[in-house]
Amino acid sequence: MCYPGLITLAKQLKIELKGVALDEQGICPDSLLSHIEKYHPKALYLTPTLQNPTTAIMSEARRQQIIDICRAHQVIIIEDDVCGLLPDQRPPAMVEMAPQQVIYLNSFSKGAFKGLRFAYLHTPAHLQTAFNSAIRGSVWNISPLLVDVAIQWIQAGFADKALIEQRRLIGQRAQLLHHHMAGMDYSYQEGGLHCWLRLPANWRCSQFVAAAQQHGVEVASAEHFVVDNQASPNAVRLSLGQAESNQQLDQGLAILAKLLKATPEPKRQLF
Ligand SMILES: Cc1ncc(COP(=O)(O)O)c(C=O)c1O
Repeated sequence: MCYPGLITLAKQLKIELKGVALDEQGICPDSLLSHIEKYHPKALYLTPTLQNPTTAIMSEARRQQIIDICRAHQVIIIEDDVCGLLPDQRPPAMVEMAPQQVIYLNSFSKGAFKGLRFAYLHTPAHLQTAFNSAIRGSVWNISPLLVDVAIQWIQAGFADKALIEQRRLIGQRAQLLHHHMAGMDYSYQEGGLHCWLRLPANWRCSQFVAAAQQHGVEVASAEHFVVDNQASPNAVRLSLGQAESNQQLDQGLAILAKLLKATPEPKRQLF
């Protein structure tokens, strides 16, 4: 499972994706190895910090294992670190551990400056020319004014302050989450914008999503995140960042908590 934006992009670019098994630390080395041997991929895309949707954070040891496998099989790693700065503490970015093996992506939209909405990347030296020409052939460049604003804000210390404030606001929302989801089977990591909620056996994912929607709450079905034809878990992803206020989030979570404890309407008979 992965960020649905990647699945859409791969479809557009006619790139075949294969999903590697995940556990509580993200990508499993054994599964990665068997996929490499079977499919001979050119690249591995992953989100080692706050995996979307499962919220997993990969330990430093696991990061090293993944790097070693990819290095041995000449698979380039694409590290999507878009939420990487949100937790107060986290293992080093994979690009710091293996700069020549990793294409690193990050964006201001989850952390310091949501409004600037631009991303940045770091590529291994041997890919620099290819990236330069791909960027020139697609977006050309982003507004230099935006870049200049970001540089000045970073240098003035605003980025650090904005990140601290962002963590504080997320912390408030996480408390609401823990309060309403107490006793439920869910994963959440400090600093995260998402919660991965495994549904009780009496709920099917599609029924739950529809019931929540009827009550005015949008949750993302696991199906959106599934790569190739893997089975979709009976789970949904909740987003803490979308609600306009803590009060709105509180109400939404209260509705979900009530639904989770209720018995779903019986399915209509189909003949
Ligand atoms: C893992 C991941 N990568 C990339 C993106 C896209 O980030 P942006 O909002 O900066 O376009 C998202 C957005 O949710 C995401 O979850």
